[in-house]
Amino acid sequence: PASAVDRPDGRLTVAGVALDEIAERHGTPVYVLDEDEVRGRCRRYRDAFPEADVHYAAKAFLCRALAHWVEEEGLGLDVCSAGELELAVTTGFPPDRILLHGNAKSPEDLRTALRLGVGRIVIDSPAEIARIAAAVPPGSEQKVMLRVTPGIGAGGHAKIRTGSEGQKFGLSLRDGHAQHAVARVLGQPRLRLTGLHCHLGSQITTVKPYLAAVRRLVGLMARTRDLYGVVLPELDLGGGHGVAYRPGDPVLDPAALAHRVRVELIESCAGAGLPVPRLIIEPGRAIVGPAGVAVYRVLAVKATAARVFVAVDGGMSDNPRPALYGVRYAPRLIGRRGAAERVATTVAGRHCEAGDVLAENVPLPADVRPGDLLAVPVAGAYHLSMASSYNLVGRPPVVAVSAGTSRPLVRRETLEDLRARDVGL
Ligand code: LLP
Repeated sequence: PASAVDRPDGRLTVAGVALDEIAERHGTPVYVLDEDEVRGRCRRYRDAFPEADVHYAAKAFLCRALAHWVEEEGLGLDVCSAGELELAVTTGFPPDRILLHGNAKSPEDLRTALRLGVGRIVIDSPAEIARIAAAVPPGSEQKVMLRVTPGIGAGGHAKIRTGSEGQKFGLSLRDGHAQHAVARVLGQPRLRLTGLHCHLGSQITTVKPYLAAVRRLVGLMARTRDLYGVVLPELDLGGGHGVAYRPGDPVLDPAALAHRVRVELIESCAGAGLPVPRLIIEPGRAIVGPAGVAVYRVLAVKATAARVFVAVDGGMSDNPRPALYGVRYAPRLIGRRGAAERVATTVAGRHCEAGDVLAENVPLPADVRPGDLLAVPVAGAYHLSMASSYNLVGRPPVVAVSAGTSRPLVRRETLEDLRARDVGL
């Protein structure tokens, strides 16, 4: 992360706090979140997109403190469950700055959204239109958007590409489902269609797919005006902005994206004779990913004929991303200097699967040994939000650091927590 500082003695500090001190105080594995880095990233987005609404995608990670920081920095929120929505609103997040997503919203999701007065509900399927309309009390109106499948595949892995035809999200532009849905929503007096949405995928590192999406969605906005006489005021391009998991990986720069999208939007709208809609974007990973560091303790070192394994006290239960998407991280030894000579290691987790590997070919000091601490940078997004208690290992705590101080945000899940849910015998 940008704010991590190496000390000559091998210790690593984030926001002025030594990670080995946090490990001593809170145990391992522990997730450290740099508050100033999160806030700085929010500001970079606000500065790059002053004309847009920036909604943080809460699925990347959410806790009350984070909701509060994001709110204070002037961002909105994208949620996809009653759980995320409740947590944000009970923290004081203004509900009108929240969007509800989901391809399968539960009755509870919709009830909660309407009860709390969520700003927009993003419709993902034809059947939802009547369902939401029927849930809106007579005499009131719910703002909605339509999620369009633009037929553009983008993203770092097949499992996180959501803009192409043939995956579960959205209403197809090609098959005319999107246009049909526009007509049906416009026919519902209790729904107000504010605009179109698309989310192309995640961990995207080029601007091009976003520009193609602008053109296609503006095309549908123009048809909506031609056919129904309605000019839609909003256009949501989703999130998906890639970050670097290892030094040298490509990233999507918000300022470059903003500039190119702005130009494309102005040109496309001018071509179609439409006013420029208000832009919405939904970055998740790019706000919190690089602001988080996971700290593990080495439990075992094993040299085999094939390779040296360094096994740590966490793994796929707190970070399922390597197993799911084949992502590789760049762990490093912290807390002491270690030998100058390096060996190529495989950093493995503690879980009972051969696929529980966090990183391959990691050059660690040759004297790496049990008791050492490893830091895994860029651990803030889609780790804890996707964590499980596999093997009945409790989920790790989250500690915030800022200006030389630390404070706990989320406590460790204990064996008592896990046992408390087990109510039968
Ligand atoms: N908006 C919508 C509608 C989304 O579905 C998502 C992510 C985002 C915004 C935010 O995308 P981001 O800016 O964070 O890429 N678990 C996967 C990523 C799944 C993303 C799901 N949707 C991973 O660990 O890579």
